[in-house]
Amino acid sequence: MTKTIGVVTPGGDAPGMNAAIRAVTRIAHAKGFQVVGFERGWEGLLTNSCKKLTPRSVGGIIQLGGTILHTIRCPGFEEEEAVEKGAETLSINDVDGLVVIGGDGSFKGALDLSRESDAFMIGIPATIDNDVYGTDETIGFDTAVNTAVGAIDKIRDTAISHERIFIVEVMGRKRGFLALEVGVCVGAEVVLIPERPMSLADMVKTMEENAKKGKRMGIIVAAEGWGNTHELAQEMQQKTESEVRLSILGYAQRGGSPTTRSRLLASLFAEKAVDLICQGQGNMAVGLRNGAIVGYELEKAARDWKPIDLRLLDLADTLAT
Ligand code: F6P
Repeated sequence: MTKTIGVVTPGGDAPGMNAAIRAVTRIAHAKGFQVVGFERGWEGLLTNSCKKLTPRSVGGIIQLGGTILHTIRCPGFEEEEAVEKGAETLSINDVDGLVVIGGDGSFKGALDLSRESDAFMIGIPATIDNDVYGTDETIGFDTAVNTAVGAIDKIRDTAISHERIFIVEVMGRKRGFLALEVGVCVGAEVVLIPERPMSLADMVKTMEENAKKGKRMGIIVAAEGWGNTHELAQEMQQKTESEVRLSILGYAQRGGSPTTRSRLLASLFAEKAVDLICQGQGNMAVGLRNGAIVGYELEKAARDWKPIDLRLLDLADTLAT
């Protein structure tokens, strides 16, 4: 009997997920598997909503943002009844290996499923937040960085003209990976991330010192997990002579055509994911470490805390003088 690989994209979407679906499908077919895609994340496993993916049906999607399998947040998937239903769906479809493309929340769902299912669970990290332990980069991160940088470059133009201070909030959930990389790449005067608090007094001091040097505008890149940027904008306004504006970049960061880097990562991760299934290895995640594609425990990817390189924050400060 032909062996079957399932693919699912639960949680928030990320640019490059389609490139990963395409690559898993084509690599799996090349190795003699058939592939089914479960629709709307975990809900597809609860309702047995799935479709056959063939090398042809995944044509023309490598450049598309989002996920052709669709996704919805599915809280409660960890409950016993839901997990049993999910495992039953995998068994009905004779799924030997399930490739879960998503973030740590999706990986927790895969681990829950593995309690009830014999299918090999493989996690491919895909989130714009880049907050998955064990991989230097997640699919979609590079695209989101580029999207945010493009938007902030435009904001800088108007900030310079009006000599205003702009607080620009970027996504990232509870972590500062996106804000930090974006901050360095736009030359932000201040970068605010949850991992290293900064007082309002210090922000104001930076802006005042810049003004004395003749730089009367400023870009403050703030991670959404840092805190309330509406309040920050009001407080900054009271403490400085300059006009302060807030711009929340929002969901545009999650969309758009994936960069070459996100596409390449998706293709390499997919290759490793199918390899692991072929080797009969389950409960594994794939990742990028120092340029190499690796496999490691899904449990760690789902639960461990990824360290952030705070030297980048110091570099951002130095570069923004
Ligand atoms: O995890 C990706 C992400 O875009 C986060 O950056 C953000 O906090 C969250 O998802 C938004 O979630 P939702 O799509 O449920 O609004």
